[in-house]
Parts: sequence; structure tokens; C-alpha cells
Amino acid sequence: MTDNPIFAVAARAEALRAQGADVITLAAGEPQAATSAVVVEAAVTAVRDPATHHYGTAQGDPALRALVATNLADDTRLPWSANDVQITLGAKHALFLAGQALIDAGDEVLVAAPGWPGHAEVVTAARGTPVPVATDEEYRVSAEALDRCRTPRTRAVILSSPGNPTGAVHPASSLRQIADWAQRHGIWVVSDDIYRAFDYTGTHRSILQVAPHLCGHTVIVGGVSKEHAMTGWRVGWLAAPPQIIASARLHVSRTITHVPTVNQRAALAALGDTATPVEAADDYRRRRALLVEALNRIDGVDCPLPDGGMFAFPDVSALLRDRGWASSADLAAWLLDTAHLAVVPSEAFNAPGRMRVCFAVDDHTLITAIDRLITALGHTGTPEPTVRQIEEAR
Ligand SMILES: Cc1ncc(COP(=O)(O)O)c(C=O)c1O
Repeated sequence: MTDNPIFAVAARAEALRAQGADVITLAAGEPQAATSAVVVEAAVTAVRDPATHHYGTAQGDPALRALVATNLADDTRLPWSANDVQITLGAKHALFLAGQALIDAGDEVLVAAPGWPGHAEVVTAARGTPVPVATDEEYRVSAEALDRCRTPRTRAVILSSPGNPTGAVHPASSLRQIADWAQRHGIWVVSDDIYRAFDYTGTHRSILQVAPHLCGHTVIVGGVSKEHAMTGWRVGWLAAPPQIIASARLHVSRTITHVPTVNQRAALAALGDTATPVEAADDYRRRRALLVEALNRIDGVDCPLPDGGMFAFPDVSALLRDRGWASSADLAAWLLDTAHLAVVPSEAFNAPGRMRVCFAVDDHTLITAIDRLITALGHTGTPEPTVRQIEEAR
């Protein structure tokens, strides 16, 4: 079994840091910001409450489930109740539980390429076969591309919009076509909505808002990790038809018993704090522009402006060719060793010739990282990106 290749970059960066190197990482798939004070205070209060010191229910805190259901009702314009929600140890655990519930050995599950490796991993963990589906030039999955990969064993498709690493946001029309295709062929849709707050186009829709008829064959996955800078707290959820929830609840009950209650209380406070994701999205939008502009000034780099998410995903194939590097893993290794800058090579996402660069870091980190990138790789024309640009973009 191989581990997620993104962690390999993080491990190498850590090793360099341990030797005293000043490594900047734009490799992490998480906000650099601390969790908001409101959430931290709620957690401190929860720790002091003896009710959190004892077992809770496997499905999760009813108050948290009810709030998740309310938010889902807003997103989908469908009625949801706390019974439709299972609280999990982050979105990844929710995807795992969905996989365990849906996939039998030998089933095929369609995943986007480029795409986040965790999607293929949960399929493999359920002894299914992940089938990569090539995205279009805007990194979107189309119903036609899905159909080309469909076989009698196709059980489900995992979608993520905005996606990782591409940031692609699927417009309502394309979600509707995918939903119709899925319904026609009895295929389940797992919609990983973990980046839903980070849509810079204003076009993000839940697939169930666009295609409510798919409700009985859809699993929605979400969590507080990215929206609330809470990756370490490990709280996510899935919302799904009763048989999926029953399977997930049983699995949770037999394994972890339930998600730690203090962390669920923290997540409850996070969902009550609607300002933090909006502010984060505003910051990311500005940093996205800075990073993409800087990347496009490097010879051999072509970076589209991502629709959403928190990553730039430039095409570096011309740079690789010019420098004689065989893969983007070579480029990433070179950047880490010479510029002490960590990015993720695109091979991690089942795609060649690109790299993933996170912009969910603070201004200072981003400016320093851009300086290092440009110093290491050279640039065309105009002067270095400066603090002035960042001030103007504010
Ligand atoms: C698309 C996608 N889904 C899910 C996750 C995992 O989220 P969590 O930390 O809540 O498990 C990630 C993390 O990078 C992700 O990129």
C-alpha cells in the first residue's frame, strides 16, 4: 500500500527543517491561519464541561448534525434533518465511510484526473478500482468523459467542485448533465464539497440544488477543515440516504465509537461563525491573483487562474523541457533543495507536467515564496512582485 505522495513532500520539507533550513511550504493542502478565537474558546469551554468527558452517540452530536442539516438545506434547497447526517473524523473519513457503504470488491469508481489522490485511495481501501477520468482543458469532468469510462461495473463517481488541485468549479449546466447521466445508469454520486466556500466565480452550486432528483443516489461530504482552518481538529460529515448513514454509523460505532465530543463542540462553534470563511475567501482571492501573476512571469510556466480552492496548478512542461527535468517531481525536489520552497509535483495528482502551489498562506509567506520562486527560476520582463502590489490588491 502506498501513502499519499503529498505527505512525502511534507516529510522531506520537515527533514530539511530539522537540519536548520528555513523551508517555506506552499505544499500543504490547508490554510496556514490559526483556527478562529471563537472556536478555540468554545473548545476550552467544552473541555471544562463534564458532559464531554464521557461517551457520546456514534452518529454524532445532535446539535452539530442539526446545524449541518440546516446548512445543507440552504445549499441544496432540499429538506434535511439531523438523522441524514453522520459526523466523521474529517472529510477523508466521511469519504472512507461512503466507500465502505457503497463499494463492493471489483466495483469501479470514477475519479477526476488530475484529482486529489485521497479519492482513489478510499476506493482502493474498499477493494474497488478507481478509474481516472480525464478532465477537459478547464479541468472539468464532463458527462461525455464519464460515459467513455463507464462499464457494467461502474458503481459511483466522486466529484469535487471546487476541486483539488485544479480549483475547477463545475457550472450548473455540467452538474445537471452529470446528474442525468448518473441517474440514467444507476450510478451513485459522491460530492466532496470540502472547498465549497472558496469559489471565486460565484457559480458554485451543490449538485443536489441543480438535480434534486438525484437525492436518493448522492452522498454529500463536507467538513470544517478548510473553511474554518481546522484541519487538525478532524471533524467532517456525510449526508446521505438512510442505508448509507446506517452503514457509516455502524462502522463508526465499531471502530472509533464517535468523533471526540470536544472537537464536535468546536465544529458547532465554527458553523455558527459565518464570517471566517468569507474573510478567508476574500484573502485567498487576492493571494491567488498575486501568485498566478508571478508564476506567469516565469519562462516556461503557464498558469490559469483557478476558479476556486486554494491552489494554483501551473503547466510547467515547457520549463521541464528547457531544464532537462524528466518530471515535475524533479522540479519540486530541486526547488526544495535549492530554494527551500516546497510545492507538490503533479504526479501526485495523476497528471504530468504541472505543480500544485498553495496560496492559503499569509501575505509575508506568499511574498517570500514568490521571491524565492523567481530568484530560482528567473522571470521575464517586469520587476519582482512587491509588497506594494499586495497593498494595492487589498
Ligand atoms: C478534495 C479533498 N477532500 C477531502 C480532503 C480531506 O479533508 P479533511 O482534512 O477534512 O479530512 C482534502 C484534503 O486535502 C481534499 O483536498
